[in-house]
Amino acid sequence: MSASSLVTAAEATAAERQQPTAAVMAPLLTGDRFRPERYHFFSVLDSTNRQAAQWARAGAPEGTVVVADQQTAGRGRLGRHWSSPAGVNLYCSIVLRPALSPREVAQLTLLTGLVLARTVTGMGVAGVEIKWPNDLLLNGRKLAGILTEARMDSSGVQYVVVGIGINLNGTDALLPPELRGKAIHLADVLRGMVDRPRFLADLLAQFERGYGRFCQQGFGPLREEWLAFSRLLGRPVQVRMAAESFAGQALALDNEGCLLVQRADGTLTRVVAGDILFTEDE
Ligand code: BTN
Repeated sequence: MSASSLVTAAEATAAERQQPTAAVMAPLLTGDRFRPERYHFFSVLDSTNRQAAQWARAGAPEGTVVVADQQTAGRGRLGRHWSSPAGVNLYCSIVLRPALSPREVAQLTLLTGLVLARTVTGMGVAGVEIKWPNDLLLNGRKLAGILTEARMDSSGVQYVVVGIGINLNGTDALLPPELRGKAIHLADVLRGMVDRPRFLADLLAQFERGYGRFCQQGFGPLREEWLAFSRLLGRPVQVRMAAESFAGQALALDNEGCLLVQRADGTLTRVVAGDILFTEDE
């Protein structure tokens, strides 16, 4: 646990209150799963996903949450870097121990996208979109990304770490040049700065509700709402998978969260893991 987590709420200055420290978050964490004693805040970390996975391997319980104000080696999907400047955004990883088969783990990314979309929409922000499988877009720009990493062995899923990076109060100037104009921050569309502790508390409360339902009933009942947030079906896409890349039309999302893409020759491919590009945007 970091030294900053020892700062009591009474001692915290107004600026520190804007940091989601353990002391600030404790009264806001009211759910069963995300309890104050499982919440860990760091001023600086290399990667919250790396730290959460290390603790998960050592037996950290479900509901362990790792948050950093800044990451020096934030990880994105497909080996990419996640830009993580201090004092502005949210970088958060959640340890889960779901009773899922390995092939169902990817659904947690879809669930998390839905949870993020609900949280942002709940703030009165219209037009948020989920891009399969792990992006949250606003006005066509990237607002948040999700990195789900799991450990599996012959007895099943040992743990899952769901990492969430969401652009809240940052600016284009803080981004690496190649991302400028491609990302958006929530403060860009709101009148004022986002209260990071409050946002995180809302996000975790939404996660608690969504994950509870998901554990009981699976992704199926969430599918329609997920589709309503997605800008996917019916659109021409370029699919990039580990072994191949092909063009087609996104036709459907099945109950397990896999994407069905129809190729020009009419054949259907079920995409379990991959990346998509909307070819009409190019
Ligand atoms: C992506 O869109 O490629 C996924 C980005 C995920 C970034 C978050 S920030 C918190 C957590 N810790 C990490 O190192 N990565 C995830």
